[in-house]
Amino acid sequence: MNELDALVDSARAAFAQATTPADLENAKAQYMGKAGRITELMKGMAALPVDEKKTRGAAINLAKQAIESALTDRRQALADAELQIQLKAEALDVTLPGRQRGQGGLHPVSLTLERIEAIFGSMGFEVAEGPEIESDWFNFTALNTPEDHPARSMHDTFYVEGGSEKAPNLLRTHTSPMQIRHAVQHVKRHRAALDAGQPMPEIRVIAPGRTYRVDSDATHSPMFHQCEGLWVGENVSFKDLKFVFTDFCRTFFESNDLVLRFRPSFFPFTEPSAEIDIQFQSGPLAGRWLEVAGSGQVHPNVVRNMGLDPEKYIGFAFGMGPDRLTMLRYGVNDLRLFFDGDVRFLAQFR
Ligand code: FA5
Ligand code: MG
Repeated sequence: MNELDALVDSARAAFAQATTPADLENAKAQYMGKAGRITELMKGMAALPVDEKKTRGAAINLAKQAIESALTDRRQALADAELQIQLKAEALDVTLPGRQRGQGGLHPVSLTLERIEAIFGSMGFEVAEGPEIESDWFNFTALNTPEDHPARSMHDTFYVEGGSEKAPNLLRTHTSPMQIRHAVQHVKRHRAALDAGQPMPEIRVIAPGRTYRVDSDATHSPMFHQCEGLWVGENVSFKDLKFVFTDFCRTFFESNDLVLRFRPSFFPFTEPSAEIDIQFQSGPLAGRWLEVAGSGQVHPNVVRNMGLDPEKYIGFAFGMGPDRLTMLRYGVNDLRLFFDGDVRFLAQFR
């Protein structure tokens, strides 16, 4: 092997040993740099006679080209290797299981409220909402509740700032004020027809929402929910109340296997009045009577406060406890669990 071939081989070997671009540039300098071997050989030619210069020059050039091409190949190989490393480091493993985002769900009482709205909606009831901070007028007075009624005492009701001494503000103790609020709006909407002696479309509404009382045990919470129902027209009777509420309970609990009892009771704003109890005929609660609502025929004084003539208009109202309905539906024995906000409990209803 001649001296130039040996030089090319040694350059190839030196390049192959370089494992980084910096190593490779150092190796290159040994051959092509200012003091490199090829440069040295070129300089050496000056001493040769003219005819030898030609052949020697051509041979050195060939060696130089071979070394340059070896250098280019090695540069490419190192760049490729670098890219592979980078690709590997940034690789996405598409087979990994996805990171789960926590999945939310509706609160069990919200599920019940949605259900109540859907069922009464299918029976032609509107849904109305009203304020939780209520005036003494709507919560008590307009509902025929006398000044000396025990519910008006300071320790039974949460009074809040903003009202006057004669008309205090309070956190509503039931959804019944919505009877008045909604009926007054309804009458206003149909004032012209009423004044012309035309029939007024019936009032048929439910009003779900939060209510407040100074109460706390397994079946009473200081904040709880109620859903008011009101149906007023020229020909609405207690029979309609029984039919509507029974139908509602059977649909809500998806069972014909329950019995309702209308137990005589007293509310200032209805006459006659009844508590509505239900009894399941099978399942874990079979045989027990459970109160789910208060109800009655709207008192004539209340009909008057709605802006209607009690000689002409009659109807019924009820106020039920969606929290209790939720307890019964899911078999939960402590109402307070619904409001503690423990995700382990709430997640079971998703
Ligand atoms: C009333 O509040 C009447 N306004 C109901 C009514 C409306 C009668 C229309 C006539 C006509 P009562 O205090 O019984 O009635 O409450 C009604 C329902 O609310 C109860 O049956 C119960 O289901 C629920 N409830 C009452 N207090 C609480 C409480 N502290 N926690 C949870 N649920 C309650
Ligand atoms: Mg009651």
